[in-house]
Amino acid sequence: MPEPLLLGLDLRASYRLRLGEVKAVDGVDIEIPRDSIVGLAGESGCGKSTLINVLLANIRPPLVLKSGRILLDGLEILGISREEVRKKVWGVKVSIVPQSALNALNPTKRIIELVKDAIRQHTPASDQEIISLCKRRFEELNLPFDSVYKYPHELSGGMRQRVIIAISTLLNPRLLVVDEPTSALDVSTQKQVLKMMVDMKKEGIIDSILFVTHELPVLRQVASHIYIMYAGKIVEYGPADSVFFRPLHPYTKALMYSVMTPEPESRARGLVTIPGEPPSLLMPPQGCRFHPRCPYVMDVCKKSEPRLVPLSDERGVACFLHHGESVN
Ligand SMILES: Nc1ncnc2c1ncn2[C@@H]1O[C@H](COP(=O)(O)OP(=O)(O)O)[C@@H](O)[C@H]1O
Ligand code: SF4
Ligand SMILES: [Mg+2]
Repeated sequence: MPEPLLLGLDLRASYRLRLGEVKAVDGVDIEIPRDSIVGLAGESGCGKSTLINVLLANIRPPLVLKSGRILLDGLEILGISREEVRKKVWGVKVSIVPQSALNALNPTKRIIELVKDAIRQHTPASDQEIISLCKRRFEELNLPFDSVYKYPHELSGGMRQRVIIAISTLLNPRLLVVDEPTSALDVSTQKQVLKMMVDMKKEGIIDSILFVTHELPVLRQVASHIYIMYAGKIVEYGPADSVFFRPLHPYTKALMYSVMTPEPESRARGLVTIPGEPPSLLMPPQGCRFHPRCPYVMDVCKKSEPRLVPLSDERGVACFLHHGESVN
């Protein structure tokens, strides 16, 4: 097996608050193969953004790392100084387009000034070098180069999103992490953003993408592998087709059908929502964390926590209904 681009093992991280500990990432193993688009899905509050911060070694109070190792492109990134992470990891090995990126751009600066600030954190490039870098990338991605001389508010939501993604990959990071990139966009704009990301991988600008969303069906168009997160834990993972066409965990099933999709057969099933809400991670339920919402709950689920058990080389699920099974 080739070495994955990113391997995270036994990751645990909590927000330390006066009220107690919010265990937002609680024993996560995750692998991002080279040349892949990995989707991470789960409802809001399940710990997706926190997991991303851990994967980027971006851990600041009140978030505290409790355990774990991360190997990213051959480099152990937890336990090195923040300064080293800034120089050797961010922008170079991995770039993130954060959840709030659409609104977080400084409104008083033109895009090109923001690009210069970002690039100079990594290399002492001249203005001219940065402009040519930008121009080449925009041409590769069929984006109008004059948008870099605009202020963020002068661009439409979709264009702003694509520009942000393009400029976060100027230094060709191996991994691009995008946190809920499409949720604020209409369906046709979403498609353009997804297509651009797929093109970037095809062109070799990046190796792999970690795509985070609360809408599982969005991943269907792009992902090669899927991880499902619930209440701080991974509850199911596998190749995308396998997870889409044969979801095993009751939460994955509910997530699949919780959003209206354009396919007529899914539409016919109607809008099925998941009753209840994800639990508080200050005091998660005993046993299986999904048990208060699960239609298949059994006695054992209320007492013991199901482990994430591999059912094949590539597929795993944390649910007592499926332990002992094997799937292809
Ligand atoms: N800065 C913070 N301080 C305290 N708790 C936080 C903070 N950020 C997130 N949380 C809590 O951590 C849990 C996971 O949140 P988050 O990682 O943002 O989930 P998601 O991205 O899946 O919506 C939630 O219970 C959230 O309330
Ligand atoms: S372990 Fe039990 S409660 Fe949890 S998802 Fe499976 S059946 Fe439902
Ligand atoms: Mg989030």
